[in-house]
Amino acid sequence: MAGSSSGPRGRWWRSPATRALAGVATVAATAAVLVTAPGADAAASTLGAAAAQSGRYFGTAIAAGRLNDSAYTTIAAREFNMVTPENEMKPDATEPNQNQFNFSAGDQVYNWAVSHGSRVRGHTLAWHGQQPGWMQNMSGSSLRNAMINHIQKVMAHYQGKLAYWDVVNEAYNEDGSRRQSNLQGTGNDWIEVAFKTARAADPSVKLCYNDYNIDNWSYAKTQGVYRMVQDFKSRGVPIDCVGLQAHFTGGSSVPGNFQQTISSFAALGVDVALTEVDVTNANTSQYSALTQACMNVARCVGITVWGVRDSDSWRSSESPLLFDGGGNKKAAYNSVLNALNAGGTTTTPTTTPTGPTTTPTGPTTTPTTTPTTPGGGSCTATLSAGQSWGDRYNLNVAVSGAGSWTVTMNVPSPERISSTWNINATWPSSQVLIATPNGSGNNWGVTIMSNGNWNWPSVSCSSS
Ligand code: G3I
Repeated sequence: MAGSSSGPRGRWWRSPATRALAGVATVAATAAVLVTAPGADAAASTLGAAAAQSGRYFGTAIAAGRLNDSAYTTIAAREFNMVTPENEMKPDATEPNQNQFNFSAGDQVYNWAVSHGSRVRGHTLAWHGQQPGWMQNMSGSSLRNAMINHIQKVMAHYQGKLAYWDVVNEAYNEDGSRRQSNLQGTGNDWIEVAFKTARAADPSVKLCYNDYNIDNWSYAKTQGVYRMVQDFKSRGVPIDCVGLQAHFTGGSSVPGNFQQTISSFAALGVDVALTEVDVTNANTSQYSALTQACMNVARCVGITVWGVRDSDSWRSSESPLLFDGGGNKKAAYNSVLNALNAGGTTTTPTTTPTGPTTTPTGPTTTPTTTPTTPGGGSCTATLSAGQSWGDRYNLNVAVSGAGSWTVTMNVPSPERISSTWNINATWPSSQVLIATPNGSGNNWGVTIMSNGNWNWPSVSCSSS
């Protein structure tokens, strides 16, 4: 997936000349990498790689039904390093009959994503929309129990595999009150019950509340959701992130105070993500502004666009995405890429309730691996510190001793790897990364979300 063309600014990167050498002779390419100067002006050439420079991801919604379209998968594999199943993990897809679960479409998207080095956002567990017929007709305690059972069973299936779950989706009205639905009818505490159930079902995944029209800080709905998150944090109800869907289609546009909204949620001690971005006619200045707003807030962890090409969009008549129907990059693509490459003027939240209690200045575990020799040869993976932020840090990895290698990295819980560059990555779980060369040489890296723990991961290297 993305992340192959350059490393973070100020660290190892590969000049066009060294890129040209890659694949011709691994040894020569490795040597070239080692003499390349840190690239203060390096610009990544894909969205995922550009976002990874600041420890963020750039994702897309993926539809299982399009995975046999090679034009679609070629773009998706190249550009994005986070995947949200567009419909395949929703309640009607995963539990079509009560207590009979079907993960085939969800697994299809999940497997495609991880086999292309991407991580996955689960979407969504408890929602008034896309409920299976049997659930739509339920109410009261039987619905409450069905919701709990649904969360438990679906999260058990994906236990340890996902980066984020949208636990609850779209539970608020435009006026900031709770939306009437069969779920709301089970009692006002249904949202916190959903989050508590989710935490118990899979403690390794970040739990998100996701909604639309919560982009304008002075809008009543934004304030309603903000008060809920504030209340949850103050009472210890588990919530880790807020997703602003950021559908700037259907007559809406990026508000001038968008960054204030992002930083205000972040100040509550949650990650913020833009989860379903699209913009009417892919207006370049709006795409640029929304990207910049995320880049300017340390805890804005990533951006997901709601589809690959305009023809894949739920609002295709508005041509709201970054690729046209022919798969060509649109002007908006370049405005987003440039904003990602430019970095941000990071703001820190006014309060940081879950911020680090120790300064992430160096390793607390031995940073160099012991070589292993399963293939008859040996290799070593050496870690060194990269940039760090209030909630995450980058590590650079240099592999020596072999041109063909597999590095396994285990991060200690509750840390999680959030992005990678210059490798092919697979993810047995969100705490384990298996890295192999992708033709970019032997210097690569990872971003790790600390979640309060700054111990470096263990790594082992095997040559083949
Ligand atoms: O797959 C069936 C097909 O077999 C059938 O012939 C056809 C007839 O209508 O329907 C197809 O299913 C459609 C499905 O998308 C797959 O294309 C559903 O009707 C249609 O309702 C569904 O729309 C999805 C919508 O959520 C439903 O709420 C969109 O794809 C999806 O992009 C959209 O995503 C939502 C997020 O989950 C939450 N935020 C808003 C966002 C946009 O509405």
